[in-house]
Amino acid sequence: MTGNRSGAPNRVLIVAIAALIGALVGTALLYALSPRTPVMRVDDTPVEIGGPFTLTAHTGEEVSDADFRGRPLLVYFGFTYCPDVCPLSLQSLARALEELGPDAEAFQPLLVTVDPQRDTPEALAVYVASNGFPDNLIGLTGTEEEIRALADAYLVEYFVLEDEDSYAEYLMEHTSIIYLMDENGDFVRPFTHTIDSGEIAEGLRRYLAQRDADA
Ligand code: NI
Repeated sequence: MTGNRSGAPNRVLIVAIAALIGALVGTALLYALSPRTPVMRVDDTPVEIGGPFTLTAHTGEEVSDADFRGRPLLVYFGFTYCPDVCPLSLQSLARALEELGPDAEAFQPLLVTVDPQRDTPEALAVYVASNGFPDNLIGLTGTEEEIRALADAYLVEYFVLEDEDSYAEYLMEHTSIIYLMDENGDFVRPFTHTIDSGEIAEGLRRYLAQRDADA
């Protein structure tokens, strides 16, 4: 009758550690990456978020970051089996874009899977068409190595969480942040998934106003 038989105490521990890592990463990002604040590492190199990629879209087409130049991106890492956080974040983003009205067309939302093993282009095609998700959401998948490299570039953490009780067999613990990248692919600001859609809309409006003022 040890705890190992059910595995429950281990799972609780893993979830606790995952939550802690998530909280630390999220907090660090929020403090470190407020917009327009240059962030220095100990070696004085600015922290860079984002980077080039070539991945497969849910349409089966190969797409790269260069294909989106000229459009600000809203980049989110998640997976289609996610029971709660991913759908809630994507629905919140959709409501924010809806609030923006025609201005929303400026933005291209991207969902990069952290579960490429199950999230094939076909699986993503079904998922991105879910009710309440952004209309023009593009799902992206690739090899384990390609996904890991891009996640690293976005400072996104993810790992497998075994869950034999779940229909999904395993889940992915992952950083849940919507990254606003500008039309050159440069990082602008993060939105955490706990932020409400009104605040996301406000942030996007402010970004557009600033961009137009700079133009
Ligand atoms: Ni999720």
